[in-house]
Amino acid sequence: MRMEEWKMIDDMQSQIAEFDISNADQLEQFRIRFLGSKNTIKPLFQHVRDVAPELRKKFGQQLNALKQSAEQKFEDAKSALGSEPSNKTRPSIDLSLPPYPHPKGAQHPIQIVMNRIVDVFQRIGFTVAEEREIEDDWHNFTAMNTPENHPARDMQDTFYLKDDMNYVLRTHTSSVQARIMTQSQPPIRIIAPGRVYRNETISARSHCQFHQIEGLYIDEGVSFADMKQTLLYYARAMYGEDVKIRLRPSYFPFTEPSAEMDVYWGLENEIDYRITKGTGWLEVLGCGMVDPAVLDNCGIDSKKYTGFAFGMGIERQAMFTYRIPDIRMLFENDIRFLSQFVNA
Ligand code: PHE
Repeated sequence: MRMEEWKMIDDMQSQIAEFDISNADQLEQFRIRFLGSKNTIKPLFQHVRDVAPELRKKFGQQLNALKQSAEQKFEDAKSALGSEPSNKTRPSIDLSLPPYPHPKGAQHPIQIVMNRIVDVFQRIGFTVAEEREIEDDWHNFTAMNTPENHPARDMQDTFYLKDDMNYVLRTHTSSVQARIMTQSQPPIRIIAPGRVYRNETISARSHCQFHQIEGLYIDEGVSFADMKQTLLYYARAMYGEDVKIRLRPSYFPFTEPSAEMDVYWGLENEIDYRITKGTGWLEVLGCGMVDPAVLDNCGIDSKKYTGFAFGMGIERQAMFTYRIPDIRMLFENDIRFLSQFVNA
C-alpha cells in the first residue's frame, strides 16, 4: 500500500485545521480553497484508484470526512463572523439610501444687492471702478472739497492710521471718484462699489464698516435733469416700475446743488411704520451736481464739463429688501442667517 495518498489526506486536514478565519475576507479565501468549484480537496478523489481495492472504501470515507470538516469549519466561522457584514454577502454601501445633503453655498445679502445695483447701472453704460480702502487724506477729503478743518469732516467720523495721520480708512467711495478724475478726462461714467469705514457706535442701525456704491457721470452738458432721470431709472429697476421717488434738498461739500433721494415704501402696517420712521419714505441715496471746485481740484476743466454724482449705502437697501431688523446680522457670519439666502 502506498502511504502517499493517506498522507495527502492528513496534510489537507491540517491545512484546514490551521487555516485562520478571523474576518470575512479570510472566510472567502477559505471557501475558494476548500469548497469552491476549483477546491483543493476535489483532486484527491482521483487518487481513489491508486489505493488498494480493499482500502478504497475507507479512503473514500476519509475524503468525505475531510470535505465535511471543511464545510463544518466554514459554517462555524461564518456564523461566528455573522454580525460582521461581509463584502460578498452584503454591500457595505447601501446604494438605495438618499445621498448626504451637499450644502449649497449662498451669496451674502450685501453681495446680492450690490450685484443687482451694479447690473442696473452697467446696463446704461457705467463701468465699475475699484480702488484702495486705505486712502490718503487728499483723495478722501481734500480733493472732494473738504479741506482740513472743514466742518463737514465731522459728518464722517474718520479712522486715521495710527502711524500716519495722512492716511485714513476711506469714509466713502467718493475717494474712487477723485482717483478716476485725476487719472482720466471726460466722458467719465463710473460706479464705485466697495467697503467704507466710519468710527460710529455699533448698534442695530449703524456699524463702523459698511458698503457703498457711488456713481459719477461727467461730460459736456450733463444736467440735473439727466441725474434725476438716471436715478428714476435706477429706482424703477430696483423697486418696481410703479415706484415713486422724491428729491429733498441736502448738503454735501462735493456737490452743488445737493439732494437726497427717497423711495416711497408705503405705510400700511407696523413694520412699514418702523422702517420708514412713520413717513412712508425710505432714504436711499445722496446726490448732486459735482461742485466745480472738485473738478478743478482733479484737473478737469469745470468751464467745459459738468457732471453729477450719487452715493448710496448697501446695507440699508439690503435691510429693507430682505426685512433684516439689525445691521449687525450682516457682519456676524452666522450660518443660520446666511443660509437663508441660498435661493435669493
Ligand atoms: N459720499 C456721500 C456719503 O458718503 C454720498 C454722496 C456721493 C453724496 C456723491 C453725493 C454725491 O454720504
